[in-house]
Amino acid sequence: MAHRPLACVILAAGKGTRMKSDLPKVLHRVAGRPMVGHVLAAVKTLDPDHVVVVVGPGMDSVAAAVAPYPTAVQHEQRGTADAVRAAFGLLEGFTGDVIVLYGDTPLVTPDTLRALVQARRQAADPAVVVLGMRPDDAGAYGRLILNARGGLEKIVEYLDASEEERAVTLCNAGLMAFDGARMFDLIGSVGNDNAKSEYYLTDVVQIARRAGMACAVVEAAPAEVVGVNSRAELAEVEKLLQGRLRKAAMDNGATLIDPDSTFLSVDTRLGRDVVVGPGCFFGAGVTVGDRVEIKPYCHLEGVRIDSGAVIGPYARLRPGAEIGPDAHIGNFVEVKNAVIEAGAKANHLTYIGDARVGAKANIGAGTITCNYDGFSKSRTEIGAGAFIGSNSALVAPVVIGDGAIVGAGSVVTMAVEADALVVARGNQKAYAGWAKRFRERKQNEKAKKA
Ligand code: UD1
Ligand code: MG
Repeated sequence: MAHRPLACVILAAGKGTRMKSDLPKVLHRVAGRPMVGHVLAAVKTLDPDHVVVVVGPGMDSVAAAVAPYPTAVQHEQRGTADAVRAAFGLLEGFTGDVIVLYGDTPLVTPDTLRALVQARRQAADPAVVVLGMRPDDAGAYGRLILNARGGLEKIVEYLDASEEERAVTLCNAGLMAFDGARMFDLIGSVGNDNAKSEYYLTDVVQIARRAGMACAVVEAAPAEVVGVNSRAELAEVEKLLQGRLRKAAMDNGATLIDPDSTFLSVDTRLGRDVVVGPGCFFGAGVTVGDRVEIKPYCHLEGVRIDSGAVIGPYARLRPGAEIGPDAHIGNFVEVKNAVIEAGAKANHLTYIGDARVGAKANIGAGTITCNYDGFSKSRTEIGAGAFIGSNSALVAPVVIGDGAIVGAGSVVTMAVEADALVVARGNQKAYAGWAKRFRERKQNEKAKKA
């Protein structure tokens, strides 16, 4: 069969007034990714020939976020049909199928998009296929009005609907698929004679029907097409997506001891037999190998953890941390831009930044890499099998050789040779009986005063 081209138009020009935000609505993040990024990711799975994102004036940040996909600017917000018209310039002469999506409806799945396209290509050759849903509360959604044969006859916006029409439970989810050859004329003839004086995309159904063209509906689960207009809806969508991500992680063989308190990003990768304790947060860019244990209350972002490592509780792994196989990163340990090699341990109260910790090295409690002098960052190299005594400060740039031992409480400012012992602290002095004499003198003074 010949390839039938596909174009996707994503509407994102809305100001998102109800978000009360300086950030354009579609850039608000869900599971670590801007909403419009989710829509693009779903669209990408269809391998479309064209993608156009319609933005409002001055939305350069949205254009940057969706690049390399092109944007078209809708200069004035005059409704959803007008928004699609803004993309016409970039789609001139296009005759394949066109899907119109909303940038603020981020949970739509590739399966649903495929179902829309399939319905568009069925034998009846509908000019428009609308994605419908039956939410528990139909609220102010547009209503889908079917004819006696079950075909789609028109869409009425809530504000323009009669009591009878408002009682209809089948709602417009917002997404539509068009036959590109007929779309330009259909959308071009939409007027604005309605409650909001806007050019409603939804009017195309009635226009198509009057011209004798077929229109169809595909139903989707309401949870997939929740639109975000407020922070509360953003939280609702986050919750739904977290549910999906947690389930996928568990389906892939990770144990989430308390899924409800585990926060994942869309790109979080958890290996087989990973165990995640309650209260862990996975920011963007975390990959976890097989059999890793992440104990409760860890915060991870931009990190790779290799198989068999044990992390936490209360660890903070920041971007550029690479935790080698079977390494241990314990409580209140922070690691940033540092490679911790196989089997190395930093079990308590430590900061390791801009460093390499060699295989099987042991980092004592309270050790700090002093990587910043107020102007620039410097590196610390710790050799394989080295032992860093508790409460040491390693002043970077500094190199600790393989197998070296650093005495507890040292401030290390110069290179330490392999297998050497370095003790860089005040020498211990002892004064026999001093404490006892001190106490006696103080007690005598007190007695005299009384
Ligand atoms: C729209 C539908 C309604 C449907 C609902 C589902 C219309 C007329 N109504 O209503 O039937 O039930 O979505 O959520 O289409 N946008 C622009 N430019 C504009 C106006 C809107 O780009 O001039 C974009 C918005 O950024 C948003 C999308 O289009 O991403 C939908 O606009 P919105 O104002 O939220 O439409 P609803 O009133 O929710
Ligand atoms: Mg909306």
